[in-house]
Amino acid sequence: MVTAGENGGVKRLAVALASVVALQGAATYTRDVAKILQTRCAGCHHAGEVAPFPLVTYEDARAKAKQIAALVKTRQMPPWQPEPGYVEFAGSRRLSDKELRTLVSWAEGGAARGKGLEPAGPVFPKAEEWRLGRPDLVVDLPEAFEVPAEGADVYRCFVVPTGLAEDKFVRAVEFRPSNRRVVHHALLFTDASLLKRPASYPCFGTIGLFPTEGLGGWSPGNAPIEMPEGAAVPVVRGSRLVAQVHYNPTGKVERERWSVGFYFTEKAPVRRVVDVGLASRVIDIPAGEAYYVVKQQFTIPIAVDAIGVIPHAHLLCREMRAWATLPNGKKQWLLNIKQWDFNWQDQFRYAKPIRLPAETKIEMEFVYDNSAGNPRNPHSPPQRVVAGPGIADEMAGVHVQSIPVDMKELPELGRALWGAVMRSVGGSFYTLPQ
Ligand code: HEC
Repeated sequence: MVTAGENGGVKRLAVALASVVALQGAATYTRDVAKILQTRCAGCHHAGEVAPFPLVTYEDARAKAKQIAALVKTRQMPPWQPEPGYVEFAGSRRLSDKELRTLVSWAEGGAARGKGLEPAGPVFPKAEEWRLGRPDLVVDLPEAFEVPAEGADVYRCFVVPTGLAEDKFVRAVEFRPSNRRVVHHALLFTDASLLKRPASYPCFGTIGLFPTEGLGGWSPGNAPIEMPEGAAVPVVRGSRLVAQVHYNPTGKVERERWSVGFYFTEKAPVRRVVDVGLASRVIDIPAGEAYYVVKQQFTIPIAVDAIGVIPHAHLLCREMRAWATLPNGKKQWLLNIKQWDFNWQDQFRYAKPIRLPAETKIEMEFVYDNSAGNPRNPHSPPQRVVAGPGIADEMAGVHVQSIPVDMKELPELGRALWGAVMRSVGGSFYTLPQ
């Protein structure tokens, strides 16, 4: 039962709350929106960066308000593919639900400026600055690469000598484009082989050679690549740097000449990051098939700490799932993407390492849509698509970046992985030494 007095209290509270809401009013740029755009968008959306327009000032934001609302609602922006609630990643670009609601209500409610001064914009590192300070070695692309004004995205591999006269351990690598407007992402590798290689060649999907080491990937707005503590990557003298770079035509001819800064350490690695790779070449997608599933699994013979995951497929793939079943039956998600976009290939680091005991089964399941209803289908009308490295082929791979808990057990993992590769390619790909 509510007495009159209490009732009055409730009313007064309601009035007070209503006036607080009225005081705060609809979201405004100066109070609510500026900080979201500055921390979540401006990293890519500022002059000279990869996004096509800046989102730094009120005028920038107001001019694009409608588009901002449309793209954040569907979560096309900021680009971030993993679904929330499965496994936590470091450096997630995903907006919180609250940030999303604020942006949408602001944009749809008239994009008000609000009172007060415009908050000062963030200070971005200059294009020519190295974020980790002066590198120990800089490898420059010898000549600028010319990106045509129009047409399909360009995937180009470059092989550049490092000039290293002695063996080194790499603790960090920074990729620095000279022209950030055209560079969408880059993957870096080393090649210690003595094979003859072209200085540069078109390469979509795979880099077309077996690298000696993977150094990691770069995409706009991301920090330089730092190796986990104790896991520096050895690079032997005479190695070449292999960079696969994805360029986006901008409407005018662009020239781009990237550099890679290497940071060395004296500390020999005591741990290795091993690529626990699951892949399938059993891909044969009939024309028009809208839900084609590719699966693979691998049981790890030793305990590892999974530190990150790199998925790989081409244009037709829509869903990517990977999970582990621990020996005690518990399911641990490793990746869940429902709207794969080849355009945004990130390398995902877990927020904290995930311990996977020996005899953990890792499974992957990818779903491909080869129907005319898939706007990314490179064929019109749809055609049968099989496994292969080209833009019109498909691939299916999940690379779980793993550190053995006991390094002495590494060879056992190596043997198991090699066996799995041999079985999955059916011996048709490589010939074993006699
Ligand atoms: C990691 C870089 C990155 C971040 C972070 C980012 N964007 Fe973008 N944005 C792009 C790029 C690149 C494009 C050009 C289209 C493309 O390549 O997908 C773009 C395009 C857009 C477009 C135009 C899309 C079109 O159809 O023309 C809007 C609007 C947009 N972004 C809004 C935002 C907002 C709002 C945020 C923050 C909440 C944001 N972006 C964060 C890189 C980024």
